[in-house]
Amino acid sequence: MKLAIRGKKKVSGTIQISGSKNSAVAIIPAAVLCDETVTLKNIPQISDVTALISILNEQGFTTFFENNTLIIKKERKIKTTFLSDKSENLRGSYYFMGSFLGQAKKIKIKQIGGCNLGSRPIDYHLECFKKLNAKVKITKNETILKTRKLKGSNITLPFPSVGATINAIICATKAFGKTKITNAATEPEVVDVCDFLNSMGAHIIGIGTNEIQITGVKYLHSTVYTIISDRIEAGTYLTLGALLDNSKITVEGINPLHLVPFIRVLEEMNVNIKINKNSITAFRTEDIKPCHITTSPHPGFPTDLGPIIAVLMLKACNTSTIKETIFENRFSHIAELNKMNANISYEDSTIKVYPSNLKPANLYAHDLRCAAALLLASLSTKGLTTIDNIDVLFRGYEKPLEKLSKLGFYLYII
Ligand code: UD1
Repeated sequence: MKLAIRGKKKVSGTIQISGSKNSAVAIIPAAVLCDETVTLKNIPQISDVTALISILNEQGFTTFFENNTLIIKKERKIKTTFLSDKSENLRGSYYFMGSFLGQAKKIKIKQIGGCNLGSRPIDYHLECFKKLNAKVKITKNETILKTRKLKGSNITLPFPSVGATINAIICATKAFGKTKITNAATEPEVVDVCDFLNSMGAHIIGIGTNEIQITGVKYLHSTVYTIISDRIEAGTYLTLGALLDNSKITVEGINPLHLVPFIRVLEEMNVNIKINKNSITAFRTEDIKPCHITTSPHPGFPTDLGPIIAVLMLKACNTSTIKETIFENRFSHIAELNKMNANISYEDSTIKVYPSNLKPANLYAHDLRCAAALLLASLSTKGLTTIDNIDVLFRGYEKPLEKLSKLGFYLYII
């Protein structure tokens, strides 16, 4: 799918932020552990969610998804084997490993997909499952996990991986005895998964710290749970407010605490930020200042907002840098932005962004955050830009075209 965008100079308005993609893609698989019915609210209508729902349906769950509320009902005993082609395109599907292991004791899953950000191994996840008394077998195309009985354990992660932390928590929730995870990730989405599991009767403490303790339970009861809103979506639209002259964008329905590291950077770059209980406004009255960022695990600067802030850096009065420490290949936006006359160079995981005047071009979106960065660049550039493979944007942003059209932007699929 190709998107055509006509850039605008000035914009003002409010954007309602949707449910968090990274929470949804973990919490939906985690719902498999529930022994009754789960009702999830604020679930975004994005293609990653659609894919997870169809995996649930394939596995015999009844699902009902309307107005951002998802009801998941287990109709019968879960099959002991699980195999889906859909997992190949979706990184979040690895959370089914933890949850099906907790429920069915055996799971077979095809290779995991997601954005191509370089080599994305799942060795930490598999080590966690082994520690919890599962056997792991890897063949050319699939991973097979089996256990007679999950047992609590002490797990020390080599790196505070979001995915491995969440998978270990999900799996340990139904393991016998206590599990301690040291060097756990503290991202808001990890906290959200823990809060969700506890709302069904799980026993998780140390939530939001680097040391999480889980006491396994046998039964999880029904819950009605509202997931957090998407801090990356909020950061994307705030950046748009900062990019355009004489403009102001308010993002609503977001917990400002989830964006503290990002807001600090915006302020350092001379962007005015107004924070209310559930909303943040970004606007600019002065020139953008350059900035030097290193991405790191929470509460550091989030890697997902690296490509987004790079677009703002192009407007700064001097050179900015971003050192990427999480993924080896989060740089696909650079060549595309350079097609727009941007001057960005890249060496040893650090990108240098020089002040540039963007021009319209025909672009290609390589992954989700690349697509978002190209969209911001196009929206702030006079003239008609096209972005091919825009489908990747819909993996993580709910109704972006509708939200932006409401602000007066001219976007259409060609
Ligand atoms: C999640 C998010 C992604 C975000 C990232 C970091 C989801 C679906 N995706 O990705 O948007 O950018 O956290 O905040 O929630 N690693 C290993 N072995 C493993 C696991 C990870 O070597 O078993 C490495 C990765 O290659 C990467 C680093 O650890 O270099 C961080 O990965 P991780 O935090 O696990 O990211 P994801 O869960 O994949």
